[in-house]
Amino acid sequence: MSPHLFLPLVMMVVSPIPGTFQDSGKVALVQAAVSSTQGEFEDVDCGRPEPSSRIVGGSDAHPGTWPWQVSLHHGGGHICGGSLIAPSWVLSAAHCFVTNGTLEPAEEWSVLLGVHSQDGPMDGAHLRSVAAILVPDNYSRVELGADVALLRLGSPARLSPSVRPVCLPRASHRFAHGTACWATGWGDVQEADPLPLPWVLQEVELRLLGEAACQCLYSRPGPFNLTFQLLPGMLCAGYPEGRRDTCQGDSGGPLVCEDGGRWFQAGITSFGFGCGRRNRPGVFTAVAPYESWIREHVMESEPGPAFPSQIQKPQSGPWEPREENCTFAQPECGKASRPGLWPWEVQVMVPGFRPCYGALVSDSWVLAPASCFVDACAERYPIQQPRTSDSPPRDLEAWRVLLPSRPEDRVARFVPHENASKDSASDLALLQLRTRVNLTAALSAVCLPHPEHFFLPGSRCRLARWGRGEPAPGSSAQLEAQLMNSWWCHCLYGRQGASVPPPGEPPHLLCPAYLEEEEAGRCWKDSVWSLLCREEGTWFMAGYRTLSNGCLRPRAFSPLQTHGPWISHVTQGAYLEDQLTWDWGPEGEETEEQICPPHTEHGACGLRPKATPAGVLWPWLTEVHVTGNRVCTGILVAPGWVLAATHCILRLGSTTVPYIEVYLGRAGASSLPQGHQVSRSVISIRLPRHLGLRPPLVLLELNSRVEPSPSALPICLQPGGVPPGASCWVLGWKDPQDRVPVATAVSILTPRLCHCLYQGILTPGTFCVLYTEGQEDKCEVTSAPPLLCQTEGGPWVLMGLAVRGSQELFAAIGPEAAWISQTVGEAHFLLPSGFPYWPPEDSDLCPQDLAGAASSPEVAALLLLPLALLIQG
Ligand code: ARG
Repeated sequence: MSPHLFLPLVMMVVSPIPGTFQDSGKVALVQAAVSSTQGEFEDVDCGRPEPSSRIVGGSDAHPGTWPWQVSLHHGGGHICGGSLIAPSWVLSAAHCFVTNGTLEPAEEWSVLLGVHSQDGPMDGAHLRSVAAILVPDNYSRVELGADVALLRLGSPARLSPSVRPVCLPRASHRFAHGTACWATGWGDVQEADPLPLPWVLQEVELRLLGEAACQCLYSRPGPFNLTFQLLPGMLCAGYPEGRRDTCQGDSGGPLVCEDGGRWFQAGITSFGFGCGRRNRPGVFTAVAPYESWIREHVMESEPGPAFPSQIQKPQSGPWEPREENCTFAQPECGKASRPGLWPWEVQVMVPGFRPCYGALVSDSWVLAPASCFVDACAERYPIQQPRTSDSPPRDLEAWRVLLPSRPEDRVARFVPHENASKDSASDLALLQLRTRVNLTAALSAVCLPHPEHFFLPGSRCRLARWGRGEPAPGSSAQLEAQLMNSWWCHCLYGRQGASVPPPGEPPHLLCPAYLEEEEAGRCWKDSVWSLLCREEGTWFMAGYRTLSNGCLRPRAFSPLQTHGPWISHVTQGAYLEDQLTWDWGPEGEETEEQICPPHTEHGACGLRPKATPAGVLWPWLTEVHVTGNRVCTGILVAPGWVLAATHCILRLGSTTVPYIEVYLGRAGASSLPQGHQVSRSVISIRLPRHLGLRPPLVLLELNSRVEPSPSALPICLQPGGVPPGASCWVLGWKDPQDRVPVATAVSILTPRLCHCLYQGILTPGTFCVLYTEGQEDKCEVTSAPPLLCQTEGGPWVLMGLAVRGSQELFAAIGPEAAWISQTVGEAHFLLPSGFPYWPPEDSDLCPQDLAGAASSPEVAALLLLPLALLIQG
């Protein structure tokens, strides 16, 4: 999704319109008009509605309040607004008429005047064709300014109480900063939310912002780190806190300010970033600078537009811009005095149902899972959705809402998501309170993310009660978590081969990594949670739980982003907030397409999370502590099983079964926070039944499973040889004391080369590796480091474990595949690689002078060339 989504992207070079404004006789007329406008000008009255009687955050206008407002139709529907400035002239915005650099033909447009509701009685309304559309020569696109247009009507408008022109400001006219003005239109009532029937003209009061104040707001990075440079001739109106604004479809319409009993048009609705967003006021084309351009083109008509002189108010003094300091509005939602004390947590009580936890999202709406209200027997909601908000169905009478520090509230409306029963990622319902609440520190709304909100990896999150959640004991309800990178989350819980949504596109899942270890014996089976994530001290409801992971804590949440438009459409005022932090890390998230590596029937394996600030994580690398202070590497092959080298675990001649403790999530002595560590004890040791031989591998059964996390994820196993093109690494520790993992690149040799180099015969099922020059001493060998291989875009696969005392020889896993899968039901075996252990060799002879020369760098270099060819296949 483009960050420029809400900027109308009209690119063009306007060519001067031929055949217009050539009549030199008009000059005199304009001059006459100029000289006659010293206050006494009155040939067409302007800016005075008949005394009588969206715009975002606005309300229905009274008929006849804004008699200059017109609707510009194209292709049978309303496209833009405009204002009547003279009987034959309408003022509007250039971008309404220019597509891909070309001005649309005038005859395709029509002007609707004197209309109030566009779907009601049209009495007093009439339609005019457009004879010409004029756009300034220097207009190219909306962000570059000059977004103004003049429309000459096919025939003059019929003036009446509901059709009158507005007054235009002279070039010298100054509108004071802070003046309350009004914008009108039939545009969207929120981002991507059209004005509902009967399309009644909307009005909204907006305050003029000084240039400096507006630039100051727009200079502050918004979502996607966007800032904007305002240009001369642009004018801002709105509020730092947002919520009241013009929106798509209001363009071309007027922003009018009252002065001396007349309404002057100060601006033309032009553009904005989204609609009604915080610190992003609407941008208008200032009308005053166009006095001469308007006079130049409109002078032909009689009567022309009115430019009454400004009434100088003595108390206002000179129209010097007032010094405005720029204060950024902070979010009005998502503030909690301390985590866990959520001022938006509500409980909905429905007779015959367990209490249901939800969250307050505005001053009158509660969001909760729809499944809370499904009658399990009838498989339907206990009530029908009411047709209008003022006639709640009788059943709702009995519903009660408990809000923090308030007496019980009643429910006026219940609106389940239309896919709530079909799709667990849409299990949402909105409940409207009978009475609006006063939002305070003790009772406030949680912030909701806009659709393009991207929660950064590493975001701090917590769980909150949601739905008919089991009452959770104490603090576990607020377990602290950190958001994982979207690739890892998506590939761990999503489908293999699926492409990972890039940042800015709504993620399919959100994965928290908990900072504390699982509470032993606690089962999370029936509990439902929402995920709250914090940005700059503000809490967002980021997601809610969908997938059940058996007894484990919820690991994957459905993101709320995609539901933003539905929530704001229903509530017309939920707190949707932009992204508050945009520190996307040094390189930012990957933007090229990423595909998830293959899974096994037991799910994903061998996925290594991107490096975190805490260090590089090898989620399957374990420390195996054996009685007597020996520490060896072990590899997690399933949630409850670790594979290790037999010589590390069992000592020759020893008769006692050792006590073994296994640690995951340790990356060196101090680099990872304590919280990432997981420890288990070993309850059984399994050896393959090799008659007479000492088996090289041992399986260790853990006392309880580990949940998948960035510090505990099983490796993949694969029968067969190393696929061509794979890169292989020995993953060990620099030294057995501090145990900082180091990965050393190696090449796997054919048995012949190995035999030639090391003058030994390989026992079957052994890999022989060659280290990249100078790398051979990077890790120590007594801990039996593993040999891992990875093909481009594939998961990490365990190929072998170092045999006793050797740096080059590794006991292959493949030959033990049957034993491993029989012992460990859930070992992650990928499909066989389809490659033999050793590629066929064409000669049995050793290259000359090779024997015994393995350590000589020249020989190693000599060997690497054919090897590289061999490995790439
Ligand atoms: N360009 C929009 C239109 O064509 C008007 C957008 C005004 N947006 C705003 N946030 N003020 O209707």
